[in-house]
Amino acid sequence: MTMESLAQRVVRWQRAHGRHDLPWQNTRDPYRVWLSEIMLQQTQVSTVLDYFPRFLARFPDVAALAQAEQDEVLGLWSGLGYYSRARNLHACARQVMSAHGGAFPRSAEALATLPGIGRSTAAAIASFCFEEQVAILDGNVKRVLTRALAFDGDLAVAAEERRLWALATGLLPEAAPPEPGQAWPRSPDMPAYTQGLMDLGATVCSTRKPSCLLCPLQPICRAQTAGEPERYPVRTRK
Ligand code: ADE
Ligand code: SF4
Repeated sequence: MTMESLAQRVVRWQRAHGRHDLPWQNTRDPYRVWLSEIMLQQTQVSTVLDYFPRFLARFPDVAALAQAEQDEVLGLWSGLGYYSRARNLHACARQVMSAHGGAFPRSAEALATLPGIGRSTAAAIASFCFEEQVAILDGNVKRVLTRALAFDGDLAVAAEERRLWALATGLLPEAAPPEPGQAWPRSPDMPAYTQGLMDLGATVCSTRKPSCLLCPLQPICRAQTAGEPERYPVRTRK
């Protein structure tokens, strides 16, 4: 019998213990998923739960957002901070309308060309909405994966960060070979995997005193086995 993989552990844990009731879950609408991911980048879930429905009520789809005046978008963002996010949000909506016929592109690679959508956010949207087999790597996920792998490269060094991206890509749930006309490999486990890694990083695998006894990765986590999870991630101040 083979050992259960990291991906299988994350997916099983997310299905049993993760959150499934947030208003941007249980939808594969890329507009809603994109909006929630931008809001969640620098804002905690409890605050986003307040802003997200109000924003959606006023701008129910990407066309409505693109048509708005920037001042109204900034007004609805007021209190969330990091206002460049709101300006990029508006620019992104306009670009989806003008360059993509009003439909969000369906691959992480194409999503990452849009204003305000970085590599990890693009991967989150593509994995949640389109089941694309593609890795996310935000701050919380870097903590989980550097600990699980005992990755001691310095993440302030671009080449080491690239190496962690490659390792993260190698850990993804297995995908079926692409069908004819389907450009990217997909796995039905990708939404649960992506959400599970985010939730582990946000709750169990905390910066200080992670709850390793509650963690599905505990039996395979190299940092936990060595008794030093807080050593990771390594990032020198520059
Ligand atoms: N932070 C970023 N994306 C998130 C998500 N989908 N759920 C919870 N926290 C997040
Ligand atoms: Fe983090 Fe501990 Fe889980 Fe390892 S076992 S991933 S250190 S919570």
